[in-house]
Amino acid sequence: MATMKSLIGLINKIQRACTVLGDHGGEGMSLWEALPTVAVVGGQSSGKSSVLESVVGRDFLPRGSGIVTRRPLVLQLHKTDEGTTEYAEFLHAPRKKFTDFAAVRKEIEDETDRITGKSKQISNKPIQLSIYSPNVVNLTLIDLPGLTKVAVEGQPDSIVQDIENMVRSYVEKPNCIILAISPANQDIATSDAIKLAREVDPTGERTFGVATKLDIMDKGTDCLDVLEGRSYRLQHPWVGIVNRSQADINKRVDMIAARRKEREYFETSPEYGHLASRMGSEYLAKLLSQHLETVIRQKIPSIVALINKSIDEINAELDRIGRPIAVDSGAQLYTILELCRAFDRVFKEHLD
Ligand code: GDP
Ligand code: NA
Ligand code: MG
Repeated sequence: MATMKSLIGLINKIQRACTVLGDHGGEGMSLWEALPTVAVVGGQSSGKSSVLESVVGRDFLPRGSGIVTRRPLVLQLHKTDEGTTEYAEFLHAPRKKFTDFAAVRKEIEDETDRITGKSKQISNKPIQLSIYSPNVVNLTLIDLPGLTKVAVEGQPDSIVQDIENMVRSYVEKPNCIILAISPANQDIATSDAIKLAREVDPTGERTFGVATKLDIMDKGTDCLDVLEGRSYRLQHPWVGIVNRSQADINKRVDMIAARRKEREYFETSPEYGHLASRMGSEYLAKLLSQHLETVIRQKIPSIVALINKSIDEINAELDRIGRPIAVDSGAQLYTILELCRAFDRVFKEHLD
C-alpha cells in the first residue's frame, strides 16, 4: 500500500513535469498519455465544477450559471500525512503557497482572464493546480469547459465546435477516465456527456456516469432506470449526486454541510434510500481512487517500457544539446530524467 501511494505521487510529479515541457496535447505517445487522469465532461452548468469540488472536498473552483470554466484546469491531488496543513500551488506561480481556498478560486479566475481576457472566449492552454492535503485521495482531475449547442453574445460561431474539439482532445486518450456528468433534470437521452463518452469509449470501460441535480427533478419523476443501469448501461455503476444549488452557493453553505445534506438526502429518500451506500460525492471519490489503482497496476509493464524509452530519448536529447546546459529547457529535462529514474526504481520495487 505504501508503495502504491508513492507510485501515485510519482505519477503526479511526472505529469506535472510533462506539462511544464508542453507535452500535453502533442503528437504521438508521451508519458502524459500513458498515465491515467480523470476528466469531467458535460453540458454547460451540468454541475462539472461542483462534482470536482465535492471529490476534492474543498471549495475552490469558480462555479455558477453560464460559461464559467473557460480553460482546462489540471488539478493534482496529493494526499499528505494526517495533521499536515493543507495548501494549494499553481504551476504558473510555483513559489506561492495558497492556504486560503477563496484565494485559489480568485487566482483561477484571474489566470483565466490573463489568457482569454474578460470575455466569453475559451483557451486550450491548461491551468495547472496542485492541492496538498491529508483529506484528499491521490488523483489527477481535469475540469473542462462545458459543451454548448449555440454561441452566445461575444463568442465566435466556431465556439461550439472549438469546445467539443478541446474536450475531445482530453477524453479520447485511452488513459483518460471520463466522468460523464448528466443533469437528472434533463433528458439523459440527450446528454452531451454520454454522447461524447460513447463516441470515444464505446465499450464504456473508462466512463463513469454521474447524474447530478437529483434534488431538482420534476415532481413525480425519478432517475432509478439510469442509476440502476437499465437505461444507459455502462461497465461501471452510475453514481447519483446532489451538489449545492445556486441558492446554497449564494448562502455560502460550506462543503461539510453540503456533504452532510447530500448524505441525508440519500439516506432519507423514498426513491433512492436502498441505494444510499452507493450514491454521493464521497462514494464517487472512493470509486475513482480504487479504479485508478487498478488501472495503474494493469499498466505497470507498459509504463516501465515507456519510461525506459523516455530515459533513452531524454539522454539522446541531452547529448544533442550538449551538457552541461545552462538554459532552462536543459534543467527541465534533467528534472524529468530524475523523475523517470525515481519512477523506474519504484516500479522495480513494486514488481519484486
Ligand atoms: P458546470 O458549468 O458544469 O461546471 O456547473 P457548475 O458546477 O458551475 O454548476 C452550475 C449551476 O448548477 C450552479 O449554480 C450550481 O449551484 C448548480 N448545481 C450543480 N449541481 C447541482 C445539484 O446537484 N443540485 C442543484 N440543486 N443545483 C446544482
Ligand atoms: Na457553469
Ligand atoms: Mg465549470
